[in-house]
Amino acid sequence: MYRSRLDGKLDDVTLEFLSSISDDEVFAQYDILGSQAHTLMLLENKIITKQEASKILSALEKIKKEPISEKSEAEDIHELIESIVVKKAGMDAGGKMHTARSRNDQVALDMRMKIRDDINMVCFCINQTIETLITLAEKNSNVIMPLYTHMQQAQVGLFSHFLLAYADALFRDLDRFYVSYGRVNESPLGAGPVGGTSIPIDRQSTAKMLGFKGLVENSIDATTSRDFVAEYVGNAAILMTNLSRMAEDFIIWSTSEFSFIELADKFTSTSSVMPQKKNPDILELIRGKTAQVIGYQMAVLSNIKGLPSGYNRDLQQVKVSIWPTSKTIISSLLVVNSLLKTMKINENRLRQAIDGGYSISLDIAEALVRKGIPFRNSHKIVGNLVQKASNSKKSLTELSPEDMKDVIVGGEIDPKDLHRIIQSTTPEYSLDTRKSQGSSGKHEQHRMIENRKRKIQAYMTGTGKRTSEVRESFEALNKAVLSLLHE
Ligand code: ARG
Repeated sequence: MYRSRLDGKLDDVTLEFLSSISDDEVFAQYDILGSQAHTLMLLENKIITKQEASKILSALEKIKKEPISEKSEAEDIHELIESIVVKKAGMDAGGKMHTARSRNDQVALDMRMKIRDDINMVCFCINQTIETLITLAEKNSNVIMPLYTHMQQAQVGLFSHFLLAYADALFRDLDRFYVSYGRVNESPLGAGPVGGTSIPIDRQSTAKMLGFKGLVENSIDATTSRDFVAEYVGNAAILMTNLSRMAEDFIIWSTSEFSFIELADKFTSTSSVMPQKKNPDILELIRGKTAQVIGYQMAVLSNIKGLPSGYNRDLQQVKVSIWPTSKTIISSLLVVNSLLKTMKINENRLRQAIDGGYSISLDIAEALVRKGIPFRNSHKIVGNLVQKASNSKKSLTELSPEDMKDVIVGGEIDPKDLHRIIQSTTPEYSLDTRKSQGSSGKHEQHRMIENRKRKIQAYMTGTGKRTSEVRESFEALNKAVLSLLHE
């Protein structure tokens, strides 16, 4: 449609190479909404007549309802929709739709509208997953488990503490998306190709009709910048790394060697050849799909890092990363949420792991500290005790008062007292007495659960409000279009 300055048509292979139509499908509805708002604004500012506006809007209404399957020579969805409008409304009216607008501000607009909706959806899904983690934490706030560092037993902990750690990581993910919304929710429409227009348009009006909070004011910035895409995909990559780490924990814990948890059958796969298998394929795919989202982030950043200012066609490839990123993070959150809700936690096995290891050691050393022994000496005494117990394949509680004698090198404590301290420092006792903020202490679990519940509510309300603001502006736009058409 635009090639009057050039000789000849593009051949089929070249058109296929150049065209973004197949990537544009997910943006088509946004493109139509943008064109409706633009047309109404042209009318408001007497740039086109009511009759012309009606013809354009009625063509757009028809396009909205029918699948855009026309075979055409258009290079993208913007050209395709405009060409159909011209065909349906005639050149005299349809030919005016693109007045004071460019595909450069149009494509930036479509991407912002798409990402805006996706952020609301992602925030909603993260919120739900956090809610599930908190509910599970509440149910498991008495389930004792070993905590690990270097994949070796480190300290006695609670299952709820572990779940709350993931809830907090997801809260940060949620907040990253939530805060970035404000930077996406600005309209680039009316920036034109790069430097604006001499036609007396009203950018604020289209922004308002499309539910934007403001403008990407500078027209060069509005048409050039894709940092909002990099931010969105970057936030997604970070979210996926958190989900992937959770997946890795659960994969290890669902092995028969650990058996800390058991995944529900409907969230596992089996083998074509080994009939006994119950494989955590879904969790493995969370890990695998994380790699892809990291790849999308790399693709976006590499695309934009060295482009000169103003629109360059390289930017067409940026949008290719948006939809698969959204699809991956939303589906990952949905399956993780269902998987969490249905998994079984093997309390006995977790307890056995504690009893078979020495993760109580630091609590015993701290009990000695409370008796006035310097921590370094307490550490040494308990280290000696663990060595003795481990060499004789015993637990610490199985050591006798006699065994205590040669571990107390400097005579800091009576061996009988040490024996008593070991017997009374049970995992339950330790978790009752652990008081530091954010620790596995029982009291802290309760406090953190209540605090996080309130936090979810605030994000839920905010996301709900944003979703209705967008919906209401689209409803108002639709009403304005229909009332003009029915006048
Ligand atoms: N298909 C293009 C894209 O997706 C739209 C903008 C084209 N603009 C241009 N000046 N060639 O980015």
